[in-house]
Amino acid sequence: MIYRTKITIDNDYHYQNNFSMLRAVMILTPSMTGIASPDPLQHAFKVKSAPHAGRGGSRPVFLEPQQWQQWWQQPSQASERALYIHIPFCRKRCSFCNFFENGTNPERISRYIKNLTEQLHIAADTPLAQSRGFNTVYVGGGTPTDISSDEVKQLGEAISRFPLVDNAEVTLEGRLNGFDDDKWHNATANGFNRFSFGVQSFDTQVRQAAGRFDDKDFLLNRLNQLSQHPSASIVIDLIFGLPGQTMDIWQQDLLAVIDSGVHGVDLYQLIGLSGTRIEHAREKGKILGTALSEFQADSQARANMYATGANHFESQNWQRLSSCHWRRDSRERSVYNSLAKSGIEILPFGAGAGGSIHGHGCMNARDLKQWHRAHDDMLPTEATATSAVALNPVQVPGMLMSPNPSASLDAIFKRGLDSGQLDLNLLQSPMALHLTPLFNAWRTNGLAELTQNQLTLTLAGRFWNVNMQTGLFEFLAENPLQPTANRPQTHSPHAIAS
Ligand SMILES: C[S@@+](CC[C@H](N)C(=O)[O-])C[C@H]1O[C@@H](n2cnc3c(N)ncnc32)[C@H](O)[C@@H]1O
Ligand code: SF4
Repeated sequence: MIYRTKITIDNDYHYQNNFSMLRAVMILTPSMTGIASPDPLQHAFKVKSAPHAGRGGSRPVFLEPQQWQQWWQQPSQASERALYIHIPFCRKRCSFCNFFENGTNPERISRYIKNLTEQLHIAADTPLAQSRGFNTVYVGGGTPTDISSDEVKQLGEAISRFPLVDNAEVTLEGRLNGFDDDKWHNATANGFNRFSFGVQSFDTQVRQAAGRFDDKDFLLNRLNQLSQHPSASIVIDLIFGLPGQTMDIWQQDLLAVIDSGVHGVDLYQLIGLSGTRIEHAREKGKILGTALSEFQADSQARANMYATGANHFESQNWQRLSSCHWRRDSRERSVYNSLAKSGIEILPFGAGAGGSIHGHGCMNARDLKQWHRAHDDMLPTEATATSAVALNPVQVPGMLMSPNPSASLDAIFKRGLDSGQLDLNLLQSPMALHLTPLFNAWRTNGLAELTQNQLTLTLAGRFWNVNMQTGLFEFLAENPLQPTANRPQTHSPHAIAS
């Protein structure tokens, strides 16, 4: 069967596809394709749609406690996997962030770490955990660096009970404030080999307006010290678009990254997260700027900030690992972030931790009291202590989803678009052909280049890549691929670009 695609466009962005044996209306909207503009970096979309893209296809499921027990007795089928451990405490609520969950309080943290490490010890002994190596571990938050030095050690010891692959990446997230030498030595001596610190901006005024503690000199000195370590990777997060952060200040931020000696950097566009102090002020028509500036970058200014950042690091020969992450050298690998986008198995621990077990997405409830109660209910009673029943990690209240039927395909899209290069050979030919109108629209709108085997995002495409991922999933929802009986089984990738 010959598969000919003739596309005509009407004013409502509805494309007509006339196939030789199949006639279908293909819907393309600006939220999928972006719009044509002489300056796609600034204008292809109006605003970043969301922090991450995803699509439905899964539904909430209920798991009987017995099934949960069985899960931990079954070996893993995953080829790559990770542990995610959540530490939901912060000392202060930063103006831009809505990840704040619980105030830092030493007793509260010590009870949490005690129960968490018990959970990790139990989990590490199960057949599920022991059946395969873990490629990467991420201790995130909140602010994991707020736990005490001894607790860092306990956490490192608990993680070491899991079968980690050689050279597994083990990340501790947090901030430099309060991360003293004692914690640093305990962390590196107990298996942590990657440190991700939120800097947000080096500019003292911008930082302080955002509710951060330290000044620029402290950050530069401390990062320089830590980066001298012979093997640990030090990476930092910067945000562009903070109130008071002009382009001039952003350029100083970028220079400071190089001066700091760190091995990698993430550049995040400020997202207007609901419930943050910045959003509350914006709703009242105010800007939480600095004493010197009330500048608030709009979407176009942020696009220029992104381009300035990308060009800055690439001109210094830093390598781009994803649309928002660059590394100075191969010490930094960003294994967790890149695998997490590939939909691998992630065993989640702690209140508010998310992951995926045996193909089921899961999210533990955030409420600390509920989490502790579930833990206490699990502890052996006098009656069960002597029985031969194996202890399993506690089934924390939360959300469990049915396996996503298109998980592996979604992972190809997410990883490809996030990295800036989608290898079309990874898609089955009918899917690649089905997406051709969308890919061509991206090309026309300056977001991507299309060759025989590859879709490569332009700088503008990399800036808007989350909108493009969202647009692609929207395209597939509006234009589901028809059953294979109606379509050819194979096709040369060459046809995609023609
Ligand atoms: C969960 S936070 C943990 C960071 C750490 N607690 C700290 O204080 O730096 C991880 C990162 O999310 C990013 N982030 C938080 N809110 C954001 C927002 N509204 N827009 C963009 N990035 C944001 C920040 O760069 C932050 O470093
Ligand atoms: S940036 Fe870090 S310290 Fe600040 S509220 Fe968010 S998670 Fe907490």
